[in-house]
Amino acid sequence: MSKTEKPVAAKQPARPTIKAVRGTRDLLPAETPLWNRVEATARAVFARYGFGEIRTPIFEATELFARGVGEETDIVSKEMFTWEDRGRAASEKNSNLTLRPENTAGVVRAYIEHNLGESGALQKLYYIGPQFRRERPQRGRYRQFWQIGAEVLGPPSSGADSPLRDAEVLEMLASFLDELGVCGWRLELNSVGSAEDRARYSAALREALEPVKAKLCPDNQRRAETNPLRVLDSKDEADQEIINGLPKIADFLSPGSRAHFEQVLAALDACGVKYHLNPRLVRGLDYYTRTTFEFTVPSGDATGLGTQNALLGGGRYDGLSEMLGGPRAPGIGFAIGEDRLILTLQAQAEADGASIAATKLGAYIAPLGVVQNPAALVLARELRAAGLTVEVGDGSFKLRKSFEIGDSLARHIILLGEDEVATNTATVKTFATGVQKKVERSALLEVLRKQDGSF
Ligand code: HAM
Repeated sequence: MSKTEKPVAAKQPARPTIKAVRGTRDLLPAETPLWNRVEATARAVFARYGFGEIRTPIFEATELFARGVGEETDIVSKEMFTWEDRGRAASEKNSNLTLRPENTAGVVRAYIEHNLGESGALQKLYYIGPQFRRERPQRGRYRQFWQIGAEVLGPPSSGADSPLRDAEVLEMLASFLDELGVCGWRLELNSVGSAEDRARYSAALREALEPVKAKLCPDNQRRAETNPLRVLDSKDEADQEIINGLPKIADFLSPGSRAHFEQVLAALDACGVKYHLNPRLVRGLDYYTRTTFEFTVPSGDATGLGTQNALLGGGRYDGLSEMLGGPRAPGIGFAIGEDRLILTLQAQAEADGASIAATKLGAYIAPLGVVQNPAALVLARELRAAGLTVEVGDGSFKLRKSFEIGDSLARHIILLGEDEVATNTATVKTFATGVQKKVERSALLEVLRKQDGSF
């Protein structure tokens, strides 16, 4: 290369961008106010029923879910994100960990670990957080999704197995959905009986499936062998006729289970919560005993959910604590699919012609030159301390650009030029009225308050 020649920079190929992992998504500020409203409503409603919040780890020992949710369930057999931990300590070697696919097993583990039953009091616990399942992603079905759930459990002496608890949880859910304004929800209800009832029913199902097994889809053929109850929640179109002709759980309930269920229904009738009995609702997790339920919304575009129309699901799990090595602690709970609830609320608002509008800021402060930037920040500090929501522009922006940004973000624009700073004033324009005036700094908050009501 001669001295005058300049080195030519090698053209770097553009680096590929990195996208969110399939089945996960970002929630941007346009959407999060609705998520926050849903969560705030849940917290307020649950508090009225005496629930306290519990936060359990996002990953747990794989065995917790294998034992709690059941080896043969779809969740455990195909959908868990599981890994062998590379711990250095001998005690951590080969520990098998899993991102939680649901939160009930974690809550019951925590109940056992912290002896929460010791006081003898009923435990009412709720949680809000992400769960992980390797499902085929589609609208309303994600690999990282959010659940808002609650569990009521305790020693038998606390009344944890009373049908009143089932009815109270269902009535609370009805109130929560009504308070949020969810239209057209439907409560589907069933009883899967005690562990013994289920065992007798499973045997009867196995027997009834034996002669017709060959006609079922491969998945159902496998379930007919390993866990015949799972055949009942199959969505396979071609298998529906056979499934509809199978024995019904209601005919296998012991007198005790039947009486329990009847008392749940009577309490719901008394408080006017409508339900639909669905004998096929056995749910996809193995820990359920007696009451099981789902709240659905009509599928289709109007609800935003397509076929994923179960907003929430739950039920009683009277033997789960013992399955996890704990004391007897009957319980009942539910988990709301928050993503699905939000999709439903968004679709319903759209159908009503109401947009879930982003709220505007109180004021946009526009310094007219970079020299006024510090003064703009001082003013923003004062107004924010007084409770106003404020954004600050930049003195390098042209006036027109400041007005455009201000109009899109805020209800007022406050101009701070050399003159305003020198005379301790500010020029305020209210976008809704188009009125612009210069005011004393000491009167500024009063002027903004008058325009906006209190803030
Ligand atoms: P689950 O029926 O597996 O029950 O899930 C509850 C709700 O979570 C579903 O009704 C649905 O709204 C939502 N959900 C499940 N999977 C996905 C997904 N891949 N994407 C989006 N939403 C999803 C349980 O998890 C039990 N732990 C509920 C329970 C609590 N039972 C007793 N206590």
